[in-house]
Amino acid sequence: MLDLDHATAARWIDRWDAQQCRYMPDREERFTALIDALEEWAGRPDPLVLDLGCGPGSLAVRLLDRIPAAMVIAIDSDPLLLALGRAGYGGRAGLDFADVDLRATGWAGGLGLERAADAAVSTTALHWLAVPALRAMYAELATVLRPGGLLLDGDHLTEDKAAAPALARLDRALTQRAEERAGADGRSEDWKGWWQAATADPVLAGPAAERARRRLSEDHHGSESLLLAQHVAALEAAGFAEIGTVWQHGENRILAAVRGG
Ligand SMILES: C[S@@+](CC[C@H](N)C(=O)[O-])C[C@H]1O[C@@H](n2cnc3c(N)ncnc32)[C@H](O)[C@@H]1O
Repeated sequence: MLDLDHATAARWIDRWDAQQCRYMPDREERFTALIDALEEWAGRPDPLVLDLGCGPGSLAVRLLDRIPAAMVIAIDSDPLLLALGRAGYGGRAGLDFADVDLRATGWAGGLGLERAADAAVSTTALHWLAVPALRAMYAELATVLRPGGLLLDGDHLTEDKAAAPALARLDRALTQRAEERAGADGRSEDWKGWWQAATADPVLAGPAAERARRRLSEDHHGSESLLLAQHVAALEAAGFAEIGTVWQHGENRILAAVRGG
């Protein structure tokens, strides 16, 4: 089997970041705001942070660039994205990748943390979970986050059309317009194009086969937790408090919540 070297992984990660920006032109601004909030709250130079649904590690490495003494456990269940992260950023001080399905019972305890985490962060990932799995995931998370620990979730989370039709419409319109402007040249690679190309690269054949074995798909499955209210209710049920948006552009927001204690 061909080896995935650092330079090849770095090229695929650059392509990943570019295609993600097609859907989130302000992705870098959102990373910056999320890390600002974490820095403000952490209360120590060496916070232990979980990155939930880390992909190839884009948020984790930006966080370590800003907070070099942090320890980040970057969690994902996709073998191809984990392979890219490990090859692209392997050996980076403070960064560990963990192959973990956030829907699995006991996932948080299974991390074997030496101390409670100071924060959990996530970008464009948690909406993938269906509501029952989301509720269980936040409840698990609360068992490994210290009292007062912070959750920061950057994701597209929508207002409920029935409860707040005007806000839902305006949020959607702002998001759509930003996406249209970002993809306006019609040349930038989309999400499907990236997956087609990556899974066809012979150096990624091993992780691509494992991905197929796990029946992972980049397609939405129709039961995602896309509503802001679903996340707020799940966080409340898991014992989080002061749940609210600290940064927003249309539907794209950073939801913050503090673990009660
Ligand atoms: C759109 S990507 C975002 C990746 C990264 N956070 C970023 O911002 O570039 C969504 C990520 O969520 C991960 N994910 C979805 N469901 C998951 C689950 N049940 N357990 C762990 N990771 C999951 C996917 O594998 C994927 O890496």
